[in-house]
Amino acid sequence: MIVLGIETSCDETAAALVSSDRKILSESIYSQIKAHKEYLGVVPELAARSHIDHCSKVIKDALNKANLSISQIDGISATAGPGLLGGLLVGLTTAKAISFASKKPFIAINHLDGHALTPRLAHKLEFPYLLLLISGGHSMFLSVEGPGQYKLLGQSIDDAMGEAFDKIGRLLGLGYPGGPEIEKIAVNGDHLRFIFPHPLKGRNNCDFSFSGLKTSVRQTAEKLSPLTFKDKEDIAASFQYTICKIIEERLNNAIQAYLTYHPNAKTLAAAGGVAANNMIRKTLESVANKNNFNLFIPEVKLCTDNGAMIAWAGIEHRLLGHESNYSFDVRARWPLGENCYEF
Ligand code: KG4
Ligand code: ZN
Repeated sequence: MIVLGIETSCDETAAALVSSDRKILSESIYSQIKAHKEYLGVVPELAARSHIDHCSKVIKDALNKANLSISQIDGISATAGPGLLGGLLVGLTTAKAISFASKKPFIAINHLDGHALTPRLAHKLEFPYLLLLISGGHSMFLSVEGPGQYKLLGQSIDDAMGEAFDKIGRLLGLGYPGGPEIEKIAVNGDHLRFIFPHPLKGRNNCDFSFSGLKTSVRQTAEKLSPLTFKDKEDIAASFQYTICKIIEERLNNAIQAYLTYHPNAKTLAAAGGVAANNMIRKTLESVANKNNFNLFIPEVKLCTDNGAMIAWAGIEHRLLGHESNYSFDVRARWPLGENCYEF
């Protein structure tokens, strides 16, 4: 089975063709980072216009690279939410139009479902698995039981982890998106120069909170103002180190919570843009080893938003016979596990 996946929920216009034997046949991605950089964040109206300009191009490009035509594929999936409505409308409407014209099944995908199932595209991985999903909009621990089937073990009670990286990046004048920029300058920083708070430490759950950490970083920066580049490197390193310490502690709790559902389970996975961070990947590896869990994290380009994850989620759902109705509309918010498929 081959599915065309279309992703337009935020600032990447992406399409990919993926086969059910876990092969990415082709990918095409247009990153809008340049368009949003001067505003230090995504401008929804600019994003929507850019998706209109690039959506058909990336789809044609993906088909050309795979040397395939629409008549040779078995379904079209597109992100229907959560995300920015303008962009979602472009991708979803395009998918419906291609599906209607070609009479191939259409599958509306929850963006989080896309991230959560990507470890199974990247690795041969059975359900269930414990997943740390960390992106620009979400930070959560999930027990992944099947496509669209999740148990939420814990989540952020305020900012998402990627959002915290982006806000600290902006505070340090590093530009957008903050995560990769912080990682870059943290390499030469002293991670022990600043001791930042660790919200929820000691609480017997696996929720996250970043607002106290963010405030403390802001106060430190204000006290030092004007910041030298060395100050910025040290703040970035200390912030990234604190995030890793938070993940370490919260993950130990999440593993205990997960084991109450699946006592013999041994599989940990991570997904979402923040899982591209090297220090976070190393932290996860160390916690997994200590708990005798096997760790699976997709390669960096499959952690950040991409078309292959949406195509793969489409395959997982099609293999279960799922199909969406054309009346399925875009959703700015769409809690995981709330599925709307026909069988
Ligand atoms: O999954 P994603 O591409 O889009 C969403 O669904 O949100 O995640 C984007 C987020 C941004 O907040 C970005 O700063 C963060 O992932 N990110 C990183 C890194 N690369 C991307 N955060 C920390 N370190 C990175 N290397
Ligand atoms: Zn994402």
